[in-house]
Amino acid sequence: MRPIARSRSTSRLLGVLWLVVCLGSRLLADAIPAGGGLVFWPRTNQARSPHLLTNLSLRFRYTNHLEAPVRVLGVDASCHCTTPKIPALPWTIGPHAAGELEVVVEIPGKWGLLEKTLRLWTADATNTLTVRVDIPEPDERQKNRLAAFADRQAVFKGDCANCHSTPAVGLTGAELYRAACAICHEAEHRASMVPDLAAKPHGGAAYWSQWIRIGKPGSFMPGFDRSYTGPLTEPQILSLIRYLEGRFPPTPGAKVALPLE
Ligand code: HEC
Ligand code: HEC
Repeated sequence: MRPIARSRSTSRLLGVLWLVVCLGSRLLADAIPAGGGLVFWPRTNQARSPHLLTNLSLRFRYTNHLEAPVRVLGVDASCHCTTPKIPALPWTIGPHAAGELEVVVEIPGKWGLLEKTLRLWTADATNTLTVRVDIPEPDERQKNRLAAFADRQAVFKGDCANCHSTPAVGLTGAELYRAACAICHEAEHRASMVPDLAAKPHGGAAYWSQWIRIGKPGSFMPGFDRSYTGPLTEPQILSLIRYLEGRFPPTPGAKVALPLE
């Protein structure tokens, strides 16, 4: 009987030892850097985006803990909106070298909690980095700006037209200016990116003609000419130029028209 009892307690002991060994090796495995010597910190980078129209840069620090260089062979992101700024692949990081990896997250047009992952792999390990960005919900005015950011001609379409172009239908001169232009340029709470027309030096009719017809690509200033999907007819544009020449007299010596960028 005793030998059997002994073997039971021995096997119990062996079982416990086995558990200790398993747990120990698990803990050891956790202690070994997942990136195979290349370690990133933090692995999850959280931020609240302060802007709705500006991309956000997040930084991950990295260190190569090995005596040998590591080569990052490939990178992929869970969306095109998350771009790591890395040199050409393969990206070689010297022994014990450390640095910062910048990751640019595209913000315009998104809001809520954005979570994206990036994978960087070397010959024998993969690092997964996570960006978690909280983008505040835009209010109505900011949503309009987002729509205009994606397409400056959006002001003439859909619901936007109710305020920005329908009221200008059939108007000319001063009335047209009030309906189509003053809505932005003389708003009580004029946005910082909308200039005060009275404060801008200019050379007269050609300046007005260019800005009214074409506006400025890459800004919120739309093109009002029909060839730019604008709402104004030729007689309306000519009446507006005449009105503006009188309202904002040209600045002596100013350039006649601004070159488009
Ligand atoms: C209810 C009327 C109304 C509607 C609808 C409207 N807007 Fe506006 N918009 C205004 C007014 C008024 C301003 C002047 C600023 C202010 O008082 O908010 C303005 C200003 C702007 C500006 C200049 C930047 C700024 O914030 O001042 C842009 C760009 C713009 N609107 C785009 C749009 C787009 C795009 C849409 C449709 C998605 C739209 N708006 C719909 C009334 C409107
Ligand atoms: C949706 C808002 C909006 C409306 C509507 C609008 N503008 Fe603008 N406008 C802008 C913004 C924003 C700029 C600044 C562009 C830039 O980034 O240089 C601008 C720039 C201009 C400039 C150039 C000022 C300078 O010398 O730098 C002129 C001139 C101008 N607008 C005239 C007009 C006229 C005339 C109308 C009406 C037919 C009009 N705008 C309607 C938003 C608007």
